[in-house]
Amino acid sequence: MRVLELMNWRYATKAMNGNKVDDEKINRIIESIRLSPSSIGLQPYELIVVSNPELKKVLRTAGNNQSQIEDCSHLVVFAVWDQYTPERIHAWFDLVNEVRGVKSEGWERMRNGIVSSWPNRPQEQNFNHASMQAYIALGVGLIAAADERVDATPMEGFNPSEVDRILGLNEKGLRSVLLMPLGYRDEEKDYLSQAKKVRKAMVNFAKHID
Ligand SMILES: Cc1cc2nc3c(=O)[nH]c(=O)nc-3n(C[C@H](O)[C@H](O)[C@H](O)COP(=O)(O)O)c2cc1C
Repeated sequence: MRVLELMNWRYATKAMNGNKVDDEKINRIIESIRLSPSSIGLQPYELIVVSNPELKKVLRTAGNNQSQIEDCSHLVVFAVWDQYTPERIHAWFDLVNEVRGVKSEGWERMRNGIVSSWPNRPQEQNFNHASMQAYIALGVGLIAAADERVDATPMEGFNPSEVDRILGLNEKGLRSVLLMPLGYRDEEKDYLSQAKKVRKAMVNFAKHID
């Protein structure tokens, strides 16, 4: 029930009022995103969290001039690995061994299988696969934000190469795929703040096979 309440409360906020969101709330939202599931646990993305006003203003120019990018409190940029490299894959398998304190044969077999195959696939295929993991995390972030009564907008309406250039992401082997401004809705300026939620009817959405 609680999740349904949050899902009905949240909406893709079009206008934010510039008020600051407390650091504790931001930290909990980011921590929820960090705990998101991902394919074999790789977490093939990083977050850049921008609260600097000048930088948000510049990023707005790369984001179709969407006002939330500047008027949010914190702008979360999902920056995805441009490629699966052996180093990145090994780092994950090593971390699991270190945290769990065990080294199993099955796990090492899986490591070898992935290291010898994934980096050889087309780069765009790997980038797309990595991006899908970031989309899962975005969904988690939206719910976590709603749980803090913080508004958020999922965004792919921006120029990724411009955002990459502004944040120097390519040099780090990263590419921006999603933005998530976090802040507070401006009820008067936001034409959607009182709008009814529109979704397909359940009968056209989920088919049960008993
Ligand atoms: C991946 C993704 C990208 C989106 N990009 C934008 C965007 O760039 N700007 C925007 O205002 N809304 C964007 N939206 C919001 C959708 O338009 C919105 O989620 C949808 O209309 C459903 O409305 P609701 O989220 O308010 O319930 C995006 C949503 C998703 C999931």
